[in-house]
Amino acid sequence: MSERWAPPVFDKEKILKYDRPGPRYTSYPTAPYFHEGFGAAAYAAEVDRTNALENPAPLSLYFHLPFCRSVCYFCGCNVTFTKDRTLGDVYVDHVLLEMDALASRMKPGRKVVQIHWGGGTPTFIPAPTLRRLWEGIRARFDLAPGAEVGVELDPRAVTEEHLVLFREAGFNRISMGIQDYDPEVQKAVHRIQPQEMTEGILRRCRDLGFESINVDLIYGLPYQTTARFAQTVDKIIASGPDRIAVFNFAYLPDLIGHQRAIPKEAMPSPAEKLSILEMVVEKFTGAGYVYIGMDHFAKPGDELCVALKERTLYRNFQGYTTKAGCDLYGVGVTSIGQVGRCYAQNRKELKAYQDAVHGGGLAVFRGVALSDDDVMRRDVITRLMCHFVLYKAEIEREYGIGFDATFGEALRELAPMQADGLVSLHDDRIEVRPLGRLLVRNIAMPFDAYLRRGGEAKRFSRTV
Ligand SMILES: C[S@@+](CC[C@H](N)C(=O)[O-])C[C@H]1O[C@@H](n2cnc3c(N)ncnc32)[C@H](O)[C@@H]1O
Ligand code: SF4
Repeated sequence: MSERWAPPVFDKEKILKYDRPGPRYTSYPTAPYFHEGFGAAAYAAEVDRTNALENPAPLSLYFHLPFCRSVCYFCGCNVTFTKDRTLGDVYVDHVLLEMDALASRMKPGRKVVQIHWGGGTPTFIPAPTLRRLWEGIRARFDLAPGAEVGVELDPRAVTEEHLVLFREAGFNRISMGIQDYDPEVQKAVHRIQPQEMTEGILRRCRDLGFESINVDLIYGLPYQTTARFAQTVDKIIASGPDRIAVFNFAYLPDLIGHQRAIPKEAMPSPAEKLSILEMVVEKFTGAGYVYIGMDHFAKPGDELCVALKERTLYRNFQGYTTKAGCDLYGVGVTSIGQVGRCYAQNRKELKAYQDAVHGGGLAVFRGVALSDDDVMRRDVITRLMCHFVLYKAEIEREYGIGFDATFGEALRELAPMQADGLVSLHDDRIEVRPLGRLLVRNIAMPFDAYLRRGGEAKRFSRTV
């Protein structure tokens, strides 16, 4: 078996040695470098430039549907908490307006290969309103045959009408938030979600014929222990989803007010968290799941595994994807797009977003234009994060540089990691070894020119 998709090797000592704050590289430059100097006009110019290209990239569309009925204390997502479901109608009206502004700039014939509805809780919005949104998308954009269309489901907030709508509309991917089945953990995070309810929705999704089902778990939640979380992991393995995300709990009570409702003393210690992670990796890989990369596992036949082997896997704001090379348009409040050589984020407050699109405008308020150096480093970091191998000649050909001369400093920084068995540095390539798989962002960080400029790492969460 190639080392590249062999299960990661877990070495507590090494993990502790390298544990430090670092970016998760869903973008490069990372979000702290987005700035308000790049606004709606700069974004519109890049949208127009890329639509004037002879062969524009395929399209990927992300829709942010921000509402949730009640707060999960761990949540770090961009959410509007409300019990008023009519807000969904008004919101969808505005999303349609934003789509009008975008669609009018699209070169005719561009095909959409990927659509994702995320949140918040998309199904907080009643099914008839979501149908209106879907029809609005179809009226404005051309869907490629076989396009990947997915939605995030909270099992507590989904109806049969929603599921039937998604299936009829042609959605083929479901992503479901579970987090932890343990009743005490659920109580502590204010998210009561009985196992029977979740498994019922899972079974119903299978019966309806959705091609791929993903579930989200979080490790590091209050009252979790290795033994208790192992029970959740066993139950998940028994229900056999196609993909599993196990996120490291980003606990930032100073920044996220509702996280302060979690009793500090209930948080697992760093040693316990490590042991939970070890158990998670052992159990899922032991059950036949392939470790795709940061936090993600998939069944061996899943296209993410195929893409890992074929070196076509890509990483963006939605995590790992097989759809590399797309222009990703973010639609809706707070959503982030990656179009041509820029990243752009929409306004974060609901009213400000709705006001911006109301007048027919775009709602971008910050972003960043990529330099040639950014584009090249993003490629290097993406290859390391997604393929666990980087062939120097491919970068040299693509960017007309000498790899060792350009990245000498990064290579020197990787030398101790080679000595520790995380990475192997060959004349022609860099390979992430099984011991380095859980530390892949540490291996990417030496190539990050922004970190080099100093002191910024504190803005990021820790590696494990
Ligand atoms: C945007 S949420 C949407 C899912 C849906 N609303 C639900 O909760 O079922 C996507 C996922 O982000 C993860 N998540 C949310 N807050 C997090 C945090 N602070 N740290 C790590 N993961 C988090 C959860 O696993 C959640 O399922
Ligand atoms: S985890 Fe999901 S349901 Fe809970 S508050 Fe966050 S977005 Fe809403």
